Amino acid sequence: MSASPFIIIAIDGGAASGKSSSSRILADKFNLLHVDTGSFYRHLTAELLARKVPHTDLPALKAALAALQLTTRLNGRSAQMLVDGRPAGDEIRDQRVNEHVSHYAAIPEVRHALLGYQRGQVAVGRQHGFRGVVMEGRDIGSVIFPDADFRFFLHADPVERAKRREKEGRQDSIAERDRLDSSRKTSPLTCPAGATDIDSTFLSLEQVVEKMAALIAPKLG
Ligand code: CDP
Repeated sequence: MSASPFIIIAIDGGAASGKSSSSRILADKFNLLHVDTGSFYRHLTAELLARKVPHTDLPALKAALAALQLTTRLNGRSAQMLVDGRPAGDEIRDQRVNEHVSHYAAIPEVRHALLGYQRGQVAVGRQHGFRGVVMEGRDIGSVIFPDADFRFFLHADPVERAKRREKEGRQDSIAERDRLDSSRKTSPLTCPAGATDIDSTFLSLEQVVEKMAALIAPKLG
């Protein structure tokens, strides 16, 4: 019998579209490394804000990015990015980061700083004996892993998504982030050709995961 393959699953979608919840369940179900790239952009944003490097100052931004050391630590099945040895704090989910993150994420140099690091999570997953990687973000199926074994794109009505975030007790600028993320020139948020598009507006989280798992399970045997 041949060994089961190491698989890559890409899940993209707008703010509060259910990427994180569904990725975590899939990671537990299939023993995959969960990689939340949004948390990486949030962590970098918090770090740059703390260092008072505005997204408008390209030379300062480039210098700061070049000096940052990005490493990984596992938190259960999730990959946690360490910046100069430090994990992200709770502030990465605060309104200040919500308001700034899409501005930093639109800058090609910021995206470039994370590109190799994100791809490197496959090696982390293999090293730690996972059966694959489930990576969520905005450009995973289009730019980071266009040849992923599975590429999903989650849609949901903006009103429904705003309700979800409210239920989590969080203030967020969902519509504004979606607008900025979809309109930027580098790696915009878009459903790549060939990806499985799932509208979760009227689906429960379990139903979304079921749809994904039904496609993934046969490949893992
Ligand atoms: O949790 P939510 O879906 O609201 O957002 P997130 O996944 O934490 O991502 C935060 C922000 O990071 C997004 O609004 C994007 O601006 C940026 N991002 C990105 O540009 N590319 C990614 N692959 C992931 C996140």
